Parts: sequence; C-alpha cells; structure tokens
Amino acid sequence: MEVFDKIDSIAASIEKYSISSAAELEAFRIQFLGSKNEIKDVFGEIKSVPNEQKKEFGQRVNALKSAAEEKFAKAQEQMQSLLNKASFGDLDLSAPASDLQLGSRHPISIVMNRMIDIFARIGFVVAEEREIEDDWHNFTAMNTPEDHPARDMQDTFYLKDSTINLLRTHTSSVQSRVMTSQQPPIRIIAPGRVYRNETISARSHCQFHQVEGLYIDKKVSFADMKQTLLYFAREMYGEKTEIRLRPSFFPFTEPSAEMDVWLGMETESARRLTKGTGWLEVLGCGMVDPQVLTNCGIDANEYSGYAFGIGIERSAMQMFNINDIRLIFENDVRFLRQFSSLI
Ligand code: DAH
Repeated sequence: MEVFDKIDSIAASIEKYSISSAAELEAFRIQFLGSKNEIKDVFGEIKSVPNEQKKEFGQRVNALKSAAEEKFAKAQEQMQSLLNKASFGDLDLSAPASDLQLGSRHPISIVMNRMIDIFARIGFVVAEEREIEDDWHNFTAMNTPEDHPARDMQDTFYLKDSTINLLRTHTSSVQSRVMTSQQPPIRIIAPGRVYRNETISARSHCQFHQVEGLYIDKKVSFADMKQTLLYFAREMYGEKTEIRLRPSFFPFTEPSAEMDVWLGMETESARRLTKGTGWLEVLGCGMVDPQVLTNCGIDANEYSGYAFGIGIERSAMQMFNINDIRLIFENDVRFLRQFSSLI
C-alpha cells in the first residue's frame, strides 16, 4: 500500500535528520511536530486505508510520532548541555572534584622526628634554643679557645658589624644555655639548624641540621654513653646494626669519640656515602669536659655527663637515597612531594 510506503519514508527521514544547530532543531520540529506536520498529513489518509489495516496503520503512525518526539527531546537536551558548557568555558561541573593537595613532611623533619622519638622513649626531653647565638654560649663556655680556627670569620657567620653575635655553628650551644639555667639531672635532646661558612656543593652546605644530646647526673660513665648510643643506632638503622667508636677530639668533651654505623658495601649508595669503607660517620660524642660544667655553674666534683651531636643530612641522604645535599634546601615541590607517603 502506498500510504505504508510513505510512513516508511518519513521514518527514514526522521532517523537520518541531522540536527546540529538551534535552527535545524526548529526546522525538525516544524516538519514533524508542528501544527501542520508531515505525520499529521499522512494520518489524514486513514480514510483510504481498508478497515482490516486501520489498526496497524494507527500503530505505525503513532510510532512515527514517538520517534520524532524522542529525537527532538534528545537533540534539545544535547543542545542545552552544549549551551551550558559554552557559558562555563571548559568547566565541567559534573566532573569529580580534584584531590586536595596535602603538604608533606620535609625529609629532614622526618629523620629528626624519628631521632627525637627514639630518645624520648628513654627519658630525653626536647630543648629548643636560638639560632642567633653569642660567642660565649657557642664557643667560650664550650671550652673553645679564643684563637681556635673555628672562631675565624672564614668558618663562622658573624652578624654584620659584630664580633660577638653569630649564627650558631653547632647545637652544642644549647648545652651551655641549658646548663646555665638548670641544675642536674639534665637529660635533653636539641634538634635544630646550624650554619657554617662553607662552599656549597653536592656534599656540603652552609646550613645543615644537628640533634644534640646532653645527659648530666651523678656517676654518669662512658659505658652509659656507649650503651645509649648503641640503643639509638639499633632503633634508627635496624636491630642488627653495629657501631664503632673512634677516638677523636672536641674542645668540650674529654675523652671524645666519633661514632660510625656499619652500612656495608653491598649497595652503590652505601659505598658512595661511606666513601668505600662501609662505615657511615653519624655523630661526635664524649664525656662533658669538667671545665664546661664549671663554666656553666655546675659542680664538676659532684656531677659528670656525656654529650653527643648527630648530623642529620647524611642520615637523611642515606635513608632516602638523596644524592645532592642542595636538594634538601631548594624546596622544589617535585622533590618534596616524594616524601608525602612517609609522614
Ligand atoms: N658540636 C660538634 C660538631 O658540630 C658535634 C659534637 C661532638 C657534639 C661531640 C657533642 C659532642 O655534643 O660531645 O661537630
């Protein structure tokens, strides 16, 4: 029947109709859904359809109408979302929100906090002091003679126009601060930043960090110190860690020693950090020189003690495989973000 062919051809043209602008959408509406549309026209031909086919005819015309309505609604919705996008630029309001950028701990803080934790467990409390020190607390009280090379302008940053005020060259200055304001028993740990006038390179910097320890009481011995430092090394570097103490010299301790931990020679980074010896130099230590106690107003006949100063940078570089000390102070977020999972 001719009229059925017409329905088929309208169905095909609805399907093929491409709507990509508001004008095309309106033209489609007029052609298929408007007050004088093609579907209505074809429906008008129902008179010529034999009775037994009228039912099928009705159904097919209704299906045509639904198809046109559906296509129109879909195209209209697409058009609307395009319009929305256009007015918000590229902003997609339905996209999931981006993650909040959380900060992370600096590798130096991670290492210092671990050290503080280890000593806190055996009763050491944190003492914090100034970075701008005077010559007495940094050198004189610590038994460093007037003519000691460390006092030279070449090694120490003095404040402008001053021969007294300086940037502390070690956290040992906290020892004299604490001993002049407290009586024993003293058991402190002092983390902080220190400064020395050194050429900046991949291995050394003019600023770095130390953790100082000081223990003063009656009858404190070298054996107490050794056991405390072994405990520290095993907590810090693993329970099988071996240490060795080498005789050394510091003006404020007598006797003095340096402690190394065994990293071995198996990995490339262990060889590099230990300069091929397997031993990493971790700290300086010793029995507090009685002269230092006296300088700070503590009775050296009654009390004795030990002290140690741990360098942080080398341990941090070993732990996190950092091959250039300058990275630690550059604050490049690409570097810092690598430690975000270690807080
Ligand atoms: N102050 C020393 C330095 O900066 C480290 C040090 C050595 C600290 C021996 C101490 C100590 O407390 O007993 O190299």
